Amino acid sequence: MRKLIVGNLKMNLITFAERERYLGSFKKALAKKEFLQTQIVLCPPVIHLESFQKASLENIKLGVQNVFWEEVGSYTGEISSSMLKGLGCEYVILGHSERRRYFNEDDRMVNLKVKAALKNNLAPIICVGETLEERQTGLTLQVITRQVKEIFAGVPQSRLEGIVIAYEPVWSVGSDVVPTTNDIMEARVLIRKILMQGYAKKNVEKVRIIYGGSVSAETAEKTCVISGMDGALVGRESLTPVDFLKIVKIIDK
Ligand code: PGA
Repeated sequence: MRKLIVGNLKMNLITFAERERYLGSFKKALAKKEFLQTQIVLCPPVIHLESFQKASLENIKLGVQNVFWEEVGSYTGEISSSMLKGLGCEYVILGHSERRRYFNEDDRMVNLKVKAALKNNLAPIICVGETLEERQTGLTLQVITRQVKEIFAGVPQSRLEGIVIAYEPVWSVGSDVVPTTNDIMEARVLIRKILMQGYAKKNVEKVRIIYGGSVSAETAEKTCVISGMDGALVGRESLTPVDFLKIVKIIDK
């Protein structure tokens, strides 16, 4: 299974000119580079999706940062996974801590979104992870267990392949502070263990477990390689293509 490195561009690339500059420098940085062990996924703001698709960046897949769970109807401001078909979008980040924090998303909602995404053949990249407070009160493993159980409720055995889980401790996102390699390994082992309680081993093995939170060229080895993760979810560093591809190179070993 190839590793997966996801660039979450968040609410950036504000103007079309900025977007074009980004695409231009991504193409330049990518030229003649070949990553054999890794699949790169870029998740731009939805408004830029079509331009990213048209730019046809070599071997890069596209995703979005959220979808709603309903297909169509009176849901002002929302976008459904079926609307993304035909835009070359294959992945969707769900349950990111910023969505939980600013939009009160909870595991029940993430569960509905996961099921809607799967129905439309979008591969969910599901974020789980504890807050600083939960960590300080010793609740880390309990929180991860609850999140995985609730988010996977009703997800059938046959749909496990392609699903990605990102272990993203909330306190590590945007902070330049990362967990120890051991903490990340512990989370990875726990997530697989919880999945094994409900699914066959051969299907659980098809789920990628990646790490997210302040991944950079400095931290990638420790957080994503030595810890045995199947890739990375990258925020800030994905905004500079050269730096992002440095991370890809480190993980693509
Ligand atoms: P960061 O963000 O890499 O800037 O910490 C990660 C994320 O939000 O997915």
